[in-house]
Amino acid sequence: MKVNGALRVPGDKSISHRALMLAALGDGASRISGILESADVQSTASVLRALGAEIPSLGQDITVNGVGLRGLRAPSEQLDCGNSGTTTRLMAGVVAGLPISATFVGDASLSRRPMRRIAKPLEAMGARLDLPAHGGLPMVVHGGALKDIDWHSEVASAQVKSAILLAGLIGGVRVTVEEPSPTRDHTERMLGARGVDIVRRGTRVELAPAHGCITAMDTLVPADPSSAAFFAGLAALADEGSLSLTEVCVNETRTGFLETLRRMGASVDFARDHLSGGEWISPVTVRPGSLRGVLIDESIVPTMIDELPLLACLATRAEGETVITGAAELRVKESDRIAAVVNNLRAIGAEAAELDDGMRIVGSHRPLRGAIKAHGDHRLAMSFGVLGVLPGNEIHIDDRDCVAVSYPSFWSDLAKVLA
Ligand code: S3P
Repeated sequence: MKVNGALRVPGDKSISHRALMLAALGDGASRISGILESADVQSTASVLRALGAEIPSLGQDITVNGVGLRGLRAPSEQLDCGNSGTTTRLMAGVVAGLPISATFVGDASLSRRPMRRIAKPLEAMGARLDLPAHGGLPMVVHGGALKDIDWHSEVASAQVKSAILLAGLIGGVRVTVEEPSPTRDHTERMLGARGVDIVRRGTRVELAPAHGCITAMDTLVPADPSSAAFFAGLAALADEGSLSLTEVCVNETRTGFLETLRRMGASVDFARDHLSGGEWISPVTVRPGSLRGVLIDESIVPTMIDELPLLACLATRAEGETVITGAAELRVKESDRIAAVVNNLRAIGAEAAELDDGMRIVGSHRPLRGAIKAHGDHRLAMSFGVLGVLPGNEIHIDDRDCVAVSYPSFWSDLAKVLA
């Protein structure tokens, strides 16, 4: 199999959500170029509209006229977050900082995901959250007068950190969040760029009370490293050629997968010498290599959390064993990604076993054939999609359309790089 050429994958999902939210909360007009036009980002747009923001139809160049830091209004309908954990948790933080109440709902997968992790700190700040017994959705957030918080988060989660920061920003209070290990820092970077007094010291982030407004600012959304990862993985497994992924966000909190691919034996080139909109942007060029298994532990899990299903798929083609630990968070993503990945790998003839907080995969040259269940999880469909195009493999995916959550053009881009 040969790969060739260059590909610009769609805009970064995390930055797209935040760009919309911060534009809506800004003072004046903010232009957003290259936003990800996917179902998850549509969920953020429609939740913001329900709260009174004027968000145009998503497109590659949009302008949002902000309503100001405290300009959102109580919604007259439930806030439907679809499949999107980022929409739910970050917007719960936004609502918590305002004197309004809102009910968050979502699809079956999102409704099962844990929300106590944001309810606890937001309640410690003075908001009230009503959750069902299972701790998921529907969730009612009653915002109000907040107080300062110094929160030690038990989970390494950028969504939890961002929910607390956004609540503090809007509530005008001082916030410190300490995380077990550093997670993606887009919220911090974007707030800093908009004039907010926010600093990071190791695993602590400190936000000083805001003075009632944030600057409107244009955003150029870089290509999503979590989407680029599928093609980087494919190029690593090819027999010949090379693939360049252009304008990829190579923020060090997001490049764990690229660094791991390099450790496994692929040639992976990128640089951190060009900043655009506060983020490192680089072409990423990947050439094939004969891959070896790797050990992944909790120290690097947050930098590649969304890429672990893909890594597990690649590990089936690597020499020896790959062991992933410290990744219990995978069980509470869009699906239980430990059980789902391992069961699917076994269903197509690979050797894999579940660990409480990760998995173990043994590589082989056996062709992998059979049917997998995506559980409506976009990253599972795409990870097994990459494995499925390797010569000799034949993998039927029950739900290919779920890629619309983060990468609607995934299947056509995959066909393009193989053409
Ligand atoms: C995200 C953070 C991560 C990641 C998700 C996007 C974000 O979730 O898995 O896809 O945009 O902040 P957690 O923060 O819950 O780990």
